[in-house]
Amino acid sequence: MNRLAKRLIVPTVLLCALAAVGTVGGCDRGSTATTQGTGGGGSGVKIGFVVKDPTEPWFQNEWKFAQQAADEMGFTLVKIGATDGNTAMAAIDNLAAQGAKGVVICTPDTKLGPALKAKADENGLKLLSVDDQFMDADGKPMTEVHHVGISARNIGKSVGTALAEQMKARGWATQDTGLCVVSFDELETARERTDGATEALLATGFPKARVFKTPQKTNDVPGAYAAVDILLTQHPKIKNWLVCGLNDNAVLGAVRAMEQRQIKAANVIGIGINGTDAVDEFRKPEPTGFYGSILLTPRRHGYETAAMMYKWVTEGKEPPKITYTDGILITRDTYEKVMKEQGLL
Ligand code: GLA
Repeated sequence: MNRLAKRLIVPTVLLCALAAVGTVGGCDRGSTATTQGTGGGGSGVKIGFVVKDPTEPWFQNEWKFAQQAADEMGFTLVKIGATDGNTAMAAIDNLAAQGAKGVVICTPDTKLGPALKAKADENGLKLLSVDDQFMDADGKPMTEVHHVGISARNIGKSVGTALAEQMKARGWATQDTGLCVVSFDELETARERTDGATEALLATGFPKARVFKTPQKTNDVPGAYAAVDILLTQHPKIKNWLVCGLNDNAVLGAVRAMEQRQIKAANVIGIGINGTDAVDEFRKPEPTGFYGSILLTPRRHGYETAAMMYKWVTEGKEPPKITYTDGILITRDTYEKVMKEQGLL
């Protein structure tokens, strides 16, 4: 990187570090968010942790656990929120300019995989993708880049199975019921999750003709709300809705859109993925259509990835090329117990 670019980026990092002092507020929320961890950094090693959406509780948890690894192992964690491709690319330069040795990243755009990899190589940074696997120019997963992610199809299937069980428990007739699939097919892990959920539900005998897919343009609550609003306009007569999506945000958006149409909570079974983002919903005094979520393991995605990177840069211990993580269903009735066990509450 040239000197001018360095001069432009480094003060931003310092300013944000001063403003945010290791919290997830302040600069963390902007697209160029950068904060520096408060960890001791005793070893002098610096590791970057870049996430695509620093406002999502999932990613805040990843950072929290990564910071624990930094504090325990004595390295400095540099947290960067990169909500677009340019910021993600700049983050690698920024980290290299600060002398970081490695970066863990959930990229805002998986198609940037080859460019991000080339930039990390050029800067001598070790690279580990988390959550969203890089795609090559042919749209295939970049298996040469080390990755930690959920076993997306299986997690999706557990959503589908739980939807079927809850539908049965409520005694819903198939002809009154539709499956609302909030899709985000441009992201492979998202497509695998919603396809898995649909597949598992169909395997129970649910008819394909009652599966309604509605694509969200943005991977957040308003994006899902808008997508489901369109679907509900198209299908005003469906009495009961099952809902699946790529994560809690997708299902929350769907549930809000259904509430807006006066569809009662008793007629909606929404099951999200992440769990970390579902807590506020479960804490509401009355049940909503958001029935449950598959709680993933943010500790593994945050602590373990940061620790893997630290060992890689300090001991030369290469992490496995691919690590899959799993999840467990939580509902209003079980979330407190399960999340306490997982160190999440
Ligand atoms: C994607 C989603 C996140 C979370 C992670 C889990 O990045 O956008 O909400 O589900 O996967 O790996």
